Amino acid sequence: MARPRVLSGIQPTADSFHLGNYLGALRQWVTLQETHDAFYCVVDLHAITVPTEAAALRRRTRVAAAQLFAAGLDPERSTVFVQSHVREHTELAWVLNCLTGMGEAARMTQFKDKSAKFGESAASVGLFTYPILQAADILLYQANSVPVGADQKQHLELTRDLAQRFNHRYGDTFTLPAPHILKEVEKITDLQEPTAKMSKSSSSPAGILDVLEQPGPLRKKVMRAVTDTGSEVVFDEANKPGISNLLRIHSALTGTSIAELVARFDGQGYGTFKKEVAEAVVETFTPIRERTEKLLSDETELDRLLAIGAGRARDVAQRTMVQVRDRVGFLPTS
Ligand code: TRP
Repeated sequence: MARPRVLSGIQPTADSFHLGNYLGALRQWVTLQETHDAFYCVVDLHAITVPTEAAALRRRTRVAAAQLFAAGLDPERSTVFVQSHVREHTELAWVLNCLTGMGEAARMTQFKDKSAKFGESAASVGLFTYPILQAADILLYQANSVPVGADQKQHLELTRDLAQRFNHRYGDTFTLPAPHILKEVEKITDLQEPTAKMSKSSSSPAGILDVLEQPGPLRKKVMRAVTDTGSEVVFDEANKPGISNLLRIHSALTGTSIAELVARFDGQGYGTFKKEVAEAVVETFTPIRERTEKLLSDETELDRLLAIGAGRARDVAQRTMVQVRDRVGFLPTS
């Protein structure tokens, strides 16, 4: 039997992924390639929904792709590609735009949050239709499952609604994708503000652990992480959000249960505990950073890997679009 297909995307909006991205996306994607037919894309079309300089986009797209390979995505097994290399994304997005109600799009909470930053009328139409492009990413590949953070639930619901609407109106065409939501994603928080999500758009540099950061600064940030009153290493989300976050980080990186960690650090104070958290972070990130640097030192080779991924992605996307065009009533091109 064919393996179920998984598709996910990540934006190239920073010069490094951070711990939240690593635990919430990258690491999970690597595991899924063992059991799934995996498609992963660096969503550069999504990145330009907010003002972005060309040179920065180019650099960040390569840095993002290199980190995906460095974290363990195997170009033989996983199809890793850049969204803009497969023109069908924008083409299907247009068709889906025409199936989406204004009110339906206006309910997307991520748009409301993001556009609030610019002032609603300064936000681009692209930002408004962002979730529809995301639906196209997913539906083009007939994905069965989509690993995403909890903040993407609403976009996945829209994707399913659009797939059903298209299938109903034009005949069965799209697979209905199921969201695959991982717990840790919801939980990794800012080191300086442990009740807020670790996020490249809102965290201060001191609150974020970057995959490509050197061991020195990584250790410093963990040691300076905001902790709570008292000195006991206990898991208590409400009263000790800082220590609870560090416990989750340690547990996620070392595979030790939180209960076991709490028992082990009983009576030892925050300092000893934080040192161990820092080591776990450094040990995880150092090999990934080194492999990323190596990949980035040979752009020709990196671009070659991405061309292979794009070729494989295009094969699938084109097959879907032949059907879509026909069903919608566009004349054949030849
Ligand atoms: N919107 C997603 C995020 O911010 C990124 C994304 C774009 C994506 N296209 C996708 C995720 C397709 C899953 C599938 O995390």
